[in-house]
Amino acid sequence: MSDGPRVVSGTAPGKLILFGEHAVVYGHPAVAVAVDRGTQVQLEALDGPTRVLAADISDPRLDQALAAVLPAHGVGIRIRTDLPVGRGMGSSAALAVALVRALAAWEGTPASVERCLALGFEIERVFHGRPSGLDHTVSTRGGAIRYRRTDAGPVFQPIQCAPLPLVVLDTGIAGDTAQLVAGVGARRPGIDPVLARIGQLVDEMIPALAAGDLPTLGAGMTENQSLLQQIGVSSPEIEALVALAVQHGALGAKLAGAGGGGVVIALVPDPAPLLAAARARGVDAITVQPGPPVP
Ligand code: PMV
Repeated sequence: MSDGPRVVSGTAPGKLILFGEHAVVYGHPAVAVAVDRGTQVQLEALDGPTRVLAADISDPRLDQALAAVLPAHGVGIRIRTDLPVGRGMGSSAALAVALVRALAAWEGTPASVERCLALGFEIERVFHGRPSGLDHTVSTRGGAIRYRRTDAGPVFQPIQCAPLPLVVLDTGIAGDTAQLVAGVGARRPGIDPVLARIGQLVDEMIPALAAGDLPTLGAGMTENQSLLQQIGVSSPEIEALVALAVQHGALGAKLAGAGGGGVVIALVPDPAPLLAAARARGVDAITVQPGPPVP
């Protein structure tokens, strides 16, 4: 370790679920994309115990996650992210995969997809206990992915995705994923037809994603949001941001992730008026593009 290069770094993107959250828990498909924002981990040689020198992610489990893969001595860590943290955008998975890539650079070995997936998952487990595996898979592979849970484990299938003008609006509230998932479970089987429609919608959106058919995708987001509202995972704050987006030129908008708070994504060909209106109301708003697949 100590004879590694003095400073190395690794980066990895965050993710957004575009369509299909919650229904995916019951075997329906969902689509997620890597985004053009992410996390950078820089490692540098230092004397003394391994420690974090600077980080714009504060998480009580960070030290444990780092200790899972780094030597106990001789490494200084700097972490930078331009992702909203704790909002369902995969910031911990981006950190995990960026760390695996930085570690590979430190050791002078290639950061293979297999290693990012295996070691990235171990680190994600420190943060999340039983992660679905989506976040670190998207973070490793980039691009857009259709995924589905099966009895034999999750199935991930890369799909085409044209550039999309997305705005992410932050409710400022961290939704409780476990509680929201449990709430949906408790409303079954009454809501099963709604979950089935979400799954069907996901597959209707896949050709539109490949073609960059913005009107179809916007209408799909609007329908998906209404279905998510019917299964009880939206909130007044989410609805307010969806309405704000539509009033400022969005073709459609929906919550992304578990809901109950978190972020709203809006498809907006001209993002400037929405960004200005959101920021004038004190809402964090950023533009996001789907990120490229990792070659
Ligand atoms: O909050 P996120 O982006 O990790 O999304 C949760 C997605 C759910 O479908 C609600 C739960 C799951 O495990 O798939």
